Amino acid sequence: MSIANARRPNSLLAMDPVRNPYAPGAGQRPPELAGRDAELSAFDVVLERIAAGRPERSLVLTGLRGVGKTVLLNQLRSAAISRGWGTGKIEARPDQSLRRPLSAALHMALRELRHPDQESMDAVLGVLKAFALRGSDSGAKVRERWQPGIDVPVAMGRADSGDMEIDLVELLSDAAGLAADVGRGIAVFIDEMQDVQSDDVSAICAACHELTQQGAPLIVVGAGLPHLPAVLSASKSYSERLFRYLRIDRLDRTAADRALIAPAEREDVTFEQAALDALYDAADGYPYFVQAYGKVTWDLAAASPITAADVTMAAPAAEAELAVGFFGSRYDRATPAEREYMRAMAELGGPAGNAVATAEVATSLSRKPASLSPARDSLIKKGLVYSAERGQIAFTVPHFGRYLLRHAD
Ligand SMILES: Nc1ncnc2c1ncn2[C@@H]1O[C@H](COP(=O)(O)OP(=O)(O)OP(=O)(O)O)[C@@H](O)[C@H]1O
Ligand SMILES: [Mg+2]
Repeated sequence: MSIANARRPNSLLAMDPVRNPYAPGAGQRPPELAGRDAELSAFDVVLERIAAGRPERSLVLTGLRGVGKTVLLNQLRSAAISRGWGTGKIEARPDQSLRRPLSAALHMALRELRHPDQESMDAVLGVLKAFALRGSDSGAKVRERWQPGIDVPVAMGRADSGDMEIDLVELLSDAAGLAADVGRGIAVFIDEMQDVQSDDVSAICAACHELTQQGAPLIVVGAGLPHLPAVLSASKSYSERLFRYLRIDRLDRTAADRALIAPAEREDVTFEQAALDALYDAADGYPYFVQAYGKVTWDLAAASPITAADVTMAAPAAEAELAVGFFGSRYDRATPAEREYMRAMAELGGPAGNAVATAEVATSLSRKPASLSPARDSLIKKGLVYSAERGQIAFTVPHFGRYLLRHAD
């Protein structure tokens, strides 16, 4: 018998690591999606209104790294699917045209829609194929040419002009028409939306604008970093009328406790109140950290109920895992010049990770602001920092400043 078990001879349950319910990891579905009821019900309203042909702004989720945008977006997608909507999802990447991924996402959405009339379906699939192929490099050798995997003849003269905005309006209108036939809708989900190229962003906004005016049942639901609203409005001034921005944030105390307690309960494991206090202190309500500390604490706890001492014992291991998996993996992607820039930000912003003025970063490094622009811009492109407001810069990764102050060389 271990020392910890001897300390609590009355506990009936030893902790089984195989039954550990917690799930730290990008896009990992949490065992309990805590604290997002408001967003889920807002989306239900959107789905109902759009399907009924009523005007409604779509949703765009914004927030820092690890707050749960991706898992919430996936949950919204499930909600759409359970209402019989056709859905597809894209993860945008910098420097990548949206044409192919969007084609694949819409192909999926159309299949999910299960329109009863094959002929109407094939007509739209033909347009989709034309849209997809318009993007492929006509100079490429035949065997290298990308095949969209759509098993119908290409339709000519629709959605294949090469102008993304015109093509999208035509394609999305046709797709929405199929959805309207069956009294449902289509939802296209775009994760990491801040990385969509600017031409594609304005095409998407323009197409959504046009479809809204037609009352067509198709929405684009986005998720991205906190500066995504600025990216959208820089592209089209009317973007605020298209999207309702929901800031996805840390979990409050009640939700953070629930994220830990509910999955444990299903395994007949409980927490002492002091353990929950210690876990909230450590994780600060950030969903990724809640899962990370929950997971390590479970593995190192001797028995149920989990105690504050268990949390204290687990904390260094949890921090070490985060230092590698959450912070280190990102830090490693930065060049020496970018690291220097981030270290200056960390020193100026302090452990709280406050936004700092880019001018101050330059002063502290004794450099001209313009000479630091390349480092700053590429950090933005890598999704490590964002411009909170003009002339300000902040980390996209919660607690990153603290990590840099403690760990980075
Ligand atoms: N509401 C929630 N309750 C409990 N855990 C959650 C919740 N939302 C997310 N998580 C957990 O937090 C972690 C991060 O979630 P997710 O990958 O969705 O974040 P993200 O905001 O998309 O991050 P990134 O910006 O890095 O893509 C995952 O381990 C997930 O299980
Ligand atoms: Mg994500």
